[in-house]
Amino acid sequence: MDDKLRFWINGVAVEEDSAPPTTTLLNHLRGSMGLTGTKEGCAEGDGGACTVVIVDPEAHGGPAFRAINACLVLLPMVQNKSVFTVEGLAEGRSWHPVQRSLVEALGSQCGYCTPGVIMSMFEAYHRKDLDAPWKLDDQMCGNLCRCTGYKPIMEATRQIAGKAEEDRFTRALDQTPARSMGLDYAHGEQRFWTPEDEATLWDLLDAHPQARFVAGGTDLSLEITKRFEIPPLLISLEGLGGLSRIEPGPDRWRVGATARLSDLEAACADAFPALERMLRFFGARQIKHRATLGGNLCTASPIGDMAPALMALGASALLRSRGGDRLVPLEAFFTGYRQTALKPGEVLAGVEIPVDWRGVDVRSACYKVSKRQELDISTVAAGMWVRLDGQGRVEAARLAFGGMAARTARAAAAEAALLGQIWAEEAVEAACARLSEDFSPIDDHRGSAWYRRTVAANLLRGFLLETRHDPAPRLPYRTTGTVNPEVIS
Ligand SMILES: Cc1cc2nc3c(=O)[nH]c(=O)nc-3n(C[C@H](O)[C@H](O)[C@H](O)COP(=O)(O)OP(=O)(O)OC[C@H]3O[C@@H](n4cnc5c(N)ncnc54)[C@H](O)[C@@H]3O)c2cc1C
Ligand code: FES
Repeated sequence: MDDKLRFWINGVAVEEDSAPPTTTLLNHLRGSMGLTGTKEGCAEGDGGACTVVIVDPEAHGGPAFRAINACLVLLPMVQNKSVFTVEGLAEGRSWHPVQRSLVEALGSQCGYCTPGVIMSMFEAYHRKDLDAPWKLDDQMCGNLCRCTGYKPIMEATRQIAGKAEEDRFTRALDQTPARSMGLDYAHGEQRFWTPEDEATLWDLLDAHPQARFVAGGTDLSLEITKRFEIPPLLISLEGLGGLSRIEPGPDRWRVGATARLSDLEAACADAFPALERMLRFFGARQIKHRATLGGNLCTASPIGDMAPALMALGASALLRSRGGDRLVPLEAFFTGYRQTALKPGEVLAGVEIPVDWRGVDVRSACYKVSKRQELDISTVAAGMWVRLDGQGRVEAARLAFGGMAARTARAAAAEAALLGQIWAEEAVEAACARLSEDFSPIDDHRGSAWYRRTVAANLLRGFLLETRHDPAPRLPYRTTGTVNPEVIS
């Protein structure tokens, strides 16, 4: 394992052995390298002024440029990676096509957000799959602008999306191999390890049981940037290639714990449209390029969005230790408020999702209700799944809710009310009435207990209305709610 930090910024090799491992890429670019084009707005992944682009040789669908928030990326997380910042795009006095496009569309005024906007546009320029208007919105929604207005920015993006021609960047993309991230880095009392095989991981855990795992860092980095708490010992799981795979199978999918949510979103669209729908309302693209499935589940947040979606799909958590693997139903993985069934010396290796919809009548959907429709923390999130028999009676049901209790959980009483009943209003009303046996939500600043109870019941009603005729309804472009109003009849 390397003991120095190494990465490339705009094609220039950087070696570093004096920075704390909890230095963010943003602070390093601006403070140590003088690359002040990349800006800090919020330091919490919300505004996108700090957007840079990284080469990901192993992205779903092939090597890709990926926009990420430099404010949440710690230096060891770009070990042996190629990063491009806004300073690296122009050649001499000749602008890059995305810069020219933004200028010609009058897409910049004060200019503070502009470097981040340019870097998200740079990813758009190289993407070949931006074939729907909502995908352009999704590409750019992580970049806030407070004075230009989004119309010219979006017009500039529309003009250049998918238009990349062969140049030094496309060549860099083709020629950048997946390099080792292995690292054993020390700075004062701080250590950061990126093991590349599980034997090393177990040895590290034995020697440093108090060390914390980190994957994408979109949650953990906030402790550093917002609470100024420095975790002294960190073990990154990003070097363990086997944990990042998404493996579809005839009976079940296995999704590795460090699979990125943007990769999962792309991979699951046809097999698990309910999951894809939840991911559409997840944080912006820059966040999904770093956030991992395992990180989302291991925070055990009662308002984490993947838990209700996966619970409704009948998923199990695969826990691994030196002694072997154990499979735990996701309902049992969450043991309390921000607590999981992980024991010392164990890591979440992945999630198994059964493929239980072939040849049977299964209806499923996911819903997220938050103060803003998109890019916000859930007040209530729900994953719902029912299997019907030939007469339209409910044979099996899984209703999972987040935001209703200290942990995400199934609504056992409501599920029981549905079993054996025709999938229609009468059964759903009976189930809604029993939701109060399942949950006693609390009042907080995101919603009162009454509001949460009402929303949960209404989502169940919406699920019936949405899936009465269409087992797996997709959302329209610019939906007005997470329940699809176009299919409700
Ligand atoms: C701007 C912004 C928007 C967000 N939007 C959403 C949203 O819409 N919905 C939502 O649910 N969340 C959201 N999040 C929260 C966060 O991005 C997700 O929870 C993300 O999936 C966390 O994954 P990560 O890999 O970045 O986790 P990390 O920060 O790397 O880790 C999180 C925690 O999990 C532990 N951990 C990570 N992987 C493992 C593993 N394999 N085994 C054991 N422990 C592990 C770490 O020790 C740490 O305690 C948002 C965050 C930000 C900053
Ligand atoms: S500084 Fe706001 S997203 Fe990074």
